[in-house]
Amino acid sequence: MRDAAIRDDVGVLVRAGAIAAVASERELRREHPHAAIVDCEQGVLTPGFVDSHTHAIFGRARYEEQELRSTGVPYLEIARRGGGIHASVRDLRGRGEEELFALAAPRLTRLAASGVTTVEVKSGYGLAVDAELRTLRVIRRLAETLPMRVVPTWMGAHEIPVEHREREQGRREYLELLVREMLPAVVRERLARFADVFCEPGVFSVDESRQVLTAARDAGLGLKLHADELASGGGAELAAALGAVSADHLAAVSDDGIRALAASGTVATLLPATLLFLGMRDQAPARRLIDAGVAVALATDFNPGTSPTTNFPLVLTLGVSQLRLSVAEVLVAATVNGAAALGIADRTGQLAPSFSADMALWAIEDVRELPYWLDTGRCHASWTRGKPCHPRDLALAF
Ligand code: NIG
Ligand code: FE
Repeated sequence: MRDAAIRDDVGVLVRAGAIAAVASERELRREHPHAAIVDCEQGVLTPGFVDSHTHAIFGRARYEEQELRSTGVPYLEIARRGGGIHASVRDLRGRGEEELFALAAPRLTRLAASGVTTVEVKSGYGLAVDAELRTLRVIRRLAETLPMRVVPTWMGAHEIPVEHREREQGRREYLELLVREMLPAVVRERLARFADVFCEPGVFSVDESRQVLTAARDAGLGLKLHADELASGGGAELAAALGAVSADHLAAVSDDGIRALAASGTVATLLPATLLFLGMRDQAPARRLIDAGVAVALATDFNPGTSPTTNFPLVLTLGVSQLRLSVAEVLVAATVNGAAALGIADRTGQLAPSFSADMALWAIEDVRELPYWLDTGRCHASWTRGKPCHPRDLALAF
């Protein structure tokens, strides 16, 4: 992860949405005299960022919970009182597809403005067949409409919905609903590439998570897992055992969990903005994960409850200041490893021949400014598949 090449005076040749060559500018100009030229001036060009973990489809913000937490009410206690994810579920169920699309599109556009060219978006505030399908259809429409690459994840197992908590058999019935009704409907409409479960003591147990994920795998979906976010419960070990593409959060991952991830090749996706926002003292053990040989990715976890931010460079800042990663490590975590966490590291995340032309141009002098500025707004232009993603005047289409 320390191997991030920085080169000066190079040009990137783009043809049909893909990178055809990365070579000296003089050589490229000589060999391709008729190519349209975008002058990056003195800026820095990076692979577009891959935000591999968001919950971007929601209705209203949940600002009332922040103050509650500051007075000492923990995140899961707010959920037990019917707030947290349940509040977002009540809210989303009352909104139609048009409305959800209109709410989500500008949020993803803000993510694009912070250098993100690929974004994963999860369902999980519907928790009923119709509301989950509606969410995933909104994600599909975003994928068709926005210039970004959008990767859809089904997260019907984000919580046990309130109406199933009230009955004695409710929990078991919801698990059956997930596996027998919701998952087949999602797969039938080809609405998701991955399945994700909130595996956490007090939410879904390791056994319950295994049931849902095994069914999803059998149905052809890739697997991701919210694991060991608040307490250590064997989530990372489960992700590794099932060959999940990523295990996410991991603030409380155990030593066994770290060993299991290293052995399986499952990417550890760390979400430092979430822990910062929740006011938690301990971040995930990024250095120990990397030293053990685990590939670490960084993502926003953009959601209304625990990470209301579309500021991707802020995550890089936290990667250096809180997780103690180097600049090269946060860059790799935001690009190559983010792509690996979505199973698409063969086509995005690098400025190299045959990769998709997913690029971000920054109005900075030095790449170290990316995690340095504690703000947004320095992404000057970006492209996904060679098409303008965050358009500025100079963002020509290739
Ligand atoms: O990744 N941990 C579970 N899911 C989200 C939070 C969801 C919410 O509070 O609305 C997360 O932090
Ligand atoms: Fe999350």
